[in-house]
Order: sequence, then C-alpha cells, then structure tokens
Amino acid sequence: MIIRQETPADYGEVYELVKAAFATSTNEGEWDYLNEVRKKDTFIPELSLVAENDDGKLVGQIVLYKMEITSPNGSYTELLLSPISVHPEYFCRGIARAMMREGFRTARELGYCAVFLCGDPNFYHRFGFKPTYEFEIYHIVDKTKKAEWCMALELTAGALTGKNGTINIE
Ligand SMILES: CC(C)(COP(=O)(O)OP(=O)(O)OC[C@H]1O[C@@H](n2cnc3c(N)ncnc32)[C@H](O)[C@@H]1OP(=O)(O)O)[C@@H](O)C(=O)NCCC(=O)NCCS
Repeated sequence: MIIRQETPADYGEVYELVKAAFATSTNEGEWDYLNEVRKKDTFIPELSLVAENDDGKLVGQIVLYKMEITSPNGSYTELLLSPISVHPEYFCRGIARAMMREGFRTARELGYCAVFLCGDPNFYHRFGFKPTYEFEIYHIVDKTKKAEWCMALELTAGALTGKNGTINIE
C-alpha cells in the first residue's frame, strides 16, 4: 500500500469510497462535503491524501485544510482534519493511522503547527488529540467550554500556547 497525494482523476473513486465508509454513520452527506472542501481557497492539494493498495484500488482518504483560531491577539491559521475514511473492507489494518502519520508529516513540512477536528474522542485520543479546552480554545457552539468532541493535536510541542480563542469548525 502507498499513501500519495490525491489527484482530480481520483475524485470519482474517492466519492464512492467515502460513501461506503460512512454508509452506516449518521454523518450523511460527508461525500458531498468533500467535493465542497476541494473548491474552497482553504484547500491544500498536498494535504489531500489517498491510500492505494497493491492492486491500485483506493482504500482510504484524508484531508487537512486551513482553518482559523480567532484570538484576542489576532487570528492564527492552522489545520482542520475532515474527513478521514477507510473502505469498510479494510477497517482495522492501520490505514487511518498510516494516513494520519503521513498527513501530519507533510503538514509539519509545510509549516503548520496544529490540527483540529470534531469527532469521537475514543478514536482520536489514541493519536494524541486532546480536548481543545485544554488549550483554552473553544468551539463557538460549546457553551459549556468542556466539549470532549472538539479536539486538537500539536504537531510541534507548545504550538498552541498563547493561541487561546475560538474556532468554528465542522
Ligand atoms: C474511523 C476509521 C477512519 C478508522 O480507520 P481504520 O483504518 O480502521 O483505523 P486503524 O486501523 O488505523 O486504527 C487505528 C486505531 O484506532 C482503533 N479504531 C479503529 N476504528 C475505531 C473506531 N471506530 N472507534 C474507536 N477506535 C477505533 C483501532 O483499534 C486502532 O487502535 P490501536 O492502534 O490502538 O490498535 C474508519 O473506521 C472509517 O472510515 N470509519 C467511517 C468514517 C468515519 O467515521 N470517519 C471518522 C470521522 S470523520
């Protein structure tokens, strides 16, 4: 299996892959969401990756794109991870982990310091994601300021120190 940058020629196969991955989830429309993400100026082609198996079949995808932290000191551009999917026939073989590793490596090379997402803490904590409230960063809909579903990962130690503020991510 290789992990490589997605190309426009992959879009059709990736659409079907995301649809299959989210078939049993409540996140309906995730496959259309990805089409919208690619059209935005926050999209970074180098951070839209696919996992391709030895037969040339696409079995996973991950996208990291630009988002803003709005802080009293100004705003900071970091990354949002959304979506990540693996074809159901290939679950639990380490594909998501491998795609994250490669995505985060490239993100560091491009100069990004942190990755945010909304998701299941049981899954993302194992990759080092922590609730954003630990960095005094809050999702705008989180009135409790204790949301466990809004998470961040520092790509470099201390990257979020002093960047307290709010985020508005999907
Ligand atoms: C979630 C998903 C991306 C995981 O992909 P995967 O390739 O099966 O994950 P990996 O094999 O790399 O698993 C990495 C670790 O996460 C664990 N894990 C896998 N799926 C999990 C899940 N749904 N919940 C909790 N933990 C999970 C694995 O046991 C493994 O743990 P370990 O390294 O401690 O042994 C995949 O199940 C998927 O595409 N699901 C549908 C779409 C989705 O929910 N995407 C995430 C929200 S955007």
